[in-house]
Amino acid sequence: MPTGPVRHFLELRDLSRDELEHVFARTRVIKDRFKRYEPYRPLTDRTLAMVFEKASTRTRVSFEAGMYQMGGSVIHLTTGDSQLGRAEPIEDTARVISRMVDIVMIRTFEQSKIERFASTSRVPVINGLTNEFHPCQILADIYTFLELRGPIKGRAVAWIGDANNVAYTWLQAAEQLGFTLRFAAPPGYGPDPARVASGPHLKLCGDPHEAARGADLVTTDVWTSMGYEAESDERRRAFAHWTVDASVMAAARPEALFMHCLPAHRGEEVSADVIDGPQSAVWDEAENRLHVQKALLEYLLLGRDVE
Ligand code: CP
Ligand code: NVA
Repeated sequence: MPTGPVRHFLELRDLSRDELEHVFARTRVIKDRFKRYEPYRPLTDRTLAMVFEKASTRTRVSFEAGMYQMGGSVIHLTTGDSQLGRAEPIEDTARVISRMVDIVMIRTFEQSKIERFASTSRVPVINGLTNEFHPCQILADIYTFLELRGPIKGRAVAWIGDANNVAYTWLQAAEQLGFTLRFAAPPGYGPDPARVASGPHLKLCGDPHEAARGADLVTTDVWTSMGYEAESDERRRAFAHWTVDASVMAAARPEALFMHCLPAHRGEEVSADVIDGPQSAVWDEAENRLHVQKALLEYLLLGRDVE
């Protein structure tokens, strides 16, 4: 059982490199047991509250299925069916919910909102996506790379697209785990220098081919993230030549993987032959949300005292 101050997972760097390695090692154990149909229910009588202020398929199903598979239960709240949409201060909501459940997952807009929730929560809070970060996604992505290609330290990952929540989380991962993110975005859509420390973990590139050159992994995401729909037309024009297609993949190493957090738009950020082709790891990546988040729930609730 963890002792000391309550631990949250609001950004990837909330876990040290050693803790990330522990979570990845536990993911392997938990996934193997699951594949062998071996029951593993260390979270009996524990409850996860999930708060969604944006749509979700993968995050909802993976957290909900994962919690039940580990013996726990889940409460699902949305802005529309709770007092969250009616201006109750988020700190008050956190005080109340965290007296009733053991752990909370939130998908919302500003990072400041989840930070305010965490500031008065008695129990761990997990970021299930904010405008700024999507740390559970990158846990799954890195785990998928480890599983399919081995250690990520020293590797080159090409990010082709918007400097969004997923991209900024990849940047944290690159700094923490010792690989390089080769970042290519159209003018005006690259990383904000105020949010990014320069260093060997980041290489800004002028176009998708330059970013993909020699990369071990090529990854992208939608041109317009949830909450930015008003900019869709403008973004469609700006990103028109930024599709990850076969010619971009050909610039990467022959054994390079393609990843996308999903949902994807074939013909926009990725061509159908790439996402549905032999280098694509997107279905393993999606499945691994389940396994890696079970390891995260286990770590935040039970610490390292596990079998
Ligand atoms: N990748 C991801 O978070 O998917 P959902 O929006 O479906 O949860
Ligand atoms: N960047 C995307 C990720 C969706 C899982 C969004 O925020 O909409």
